[in-house]
Amino acid sequence: MTASSSGMWSSRLIFILAAAGSAVGLGNIWRFPYVAGENGGGVFVLAYLLCICVIGLPIMIAEIVLGRAGKNSPIASMKIMARDSGANPAWQIIGWMGVVAGFMILSFYSVIAGWALAYFLKMIQGAFLGIDADSANRVFEDFISNPHRLVFWHTIFMAITIFITSRGVGQGLERAVKLLMPGLFLLLILLVIWAASSSGYFLKGISFLFSPKPEDFSGDSVFLAMGQAFFTLSLGMGAIMAYGAYLPKSAGIAGSALTIGVLDTLVALLSGMIIFPIVFANGLEPSAGPGLMFVSLPLAFGNMVAGQIFGALFFLLVSFAAVTSAISISEPAVAWLSEKGKFARSTSAYTIGFLAWLLGLGSAFSFNLMSGFTLLPEKSFFDSMDFLSNNVLLPFGGILISLFVGWRLKPEILLDQLPEISRFFLGLLIFSLRFIAPGAIFLVFAMSFLK
Ligand code: PHE
Repeated sequence: MTASSSGMWSSRLIFILAAAGSAVGLGNIWRFPYVAGENGGGVFVLAYLLCICVIGLPIMIAEIVLGRAGKNSPIASMKIMARDSGANPAWQIIGWMGVVAGFMILSFYSVIAGWALAYFLKMIQGAFLGIDADSANRVFEDFISNPHRLVFWHTIFMAITIFITSRGVGQGLERAVKLLMPGLFLLLILLVIWAASSSGYFLKGISFLFSPKPEDFSGDSVFLAMGQAFFTLSLGMGAIMAYGAYLPKSAGIAGSALTIGVLDTLVALLSGMIIFPIVFANGLEPSAGPGLMFVSLPLAFGNMVAGQIFGALFFLLVSFAAVTSAISISEPAVAWLSEKGKFARSTSAYTIGFLAWLLGLGSAFSFNLMSGFTLLPEKSFFDSMDFLSNNVLLPFGGILISLFVGWRLKPEILLDQLPEISRFFLGLLIFSLRFIAPGAIFLVFAMSFLK
């Protein structure tokens, strides 16, 4: 599918909303708080913020540039960019790795997003009214121990995602993000105000998030923070590159990237500011793992005025945020399959969706039938998919993208795509892409292997 066959974003604002819709998702609301909780809070958050600025933003600009200049799926765009720059065609590997990473991410993403859908229904049914911490825990444990239910919700979520993807960029996505993103933002702010005014533990939650304790520092937390930065900004696998292909030439790339990065970071921090006060107020463990959001938030909603309504709304919006991200995760593979009329867009979407759904069964069963099974040492199937994609494939993709744009991309292409930035910032960007971003990623990899 080329940009012309799939349509273009109708404005820069829509691109920002769509890319922010890709970035903002389970990574911010579900994954950021639990991974921060498992890794000591403050140090992790500091490392994460550094990774966003030093590694994330330059790579986001690089991906959008490649997408808009290549105008095709990431695989084809990379081929064209390598050809036009006189570089080795092997750089296409960036596109291929992205497709593989996308499969892996979509497979487990859909399982967790299914949890959010299920919790939306539980909220409507009033399952958490007046609930205490133990019971909230029990509801969650009961839920994930039932393989049928997890597969059911995984299937529903994948079907919704693929249905929207199959309709192409303009029709499905624009309408969804215009409404959902502002709604989600508003609700998060409301919840922060609630957390600040009612739990009595707001400061404790904030200080957990924002005061780095050196004793918590380990190579591992920095390594995981980097993986989180890639995941949350949707970088390293071509999702943003694929969206960049539909960006009109008149829109500024650097400013868009900055806006997306800021929005995404805000949502993650707001989520932490909501979840940790509730965790501390109820004697929950910050290191509870993937269930953190699904225990702490029902507890809060179950005990607040009109919590049933707010709770249902919240899980609905989280599910929508997950849909807009999942669509972008599938986009590189779907765009590639349907490119140049190989397959209809809908056939491509259903094929990719089915394969990712199949792989996702392994993640759904990790919490019940296959809970004793490990793929990587000490990691369940779900944890292994998450680790391999977020902490290995995405950063590795990031190194290749930054090196390609920094060293190999024809300078005229870069200049042509970034007419709005000054010579100084252009120099800074190239310096970051040549040395700082790849160097930092490499260093973080090395630190974690040598620890
Ligand atoms: N950024 C999304 C989130 O935080 C996940 C994602 C990863 C989307 C990779 C696209 C590509 O939920």
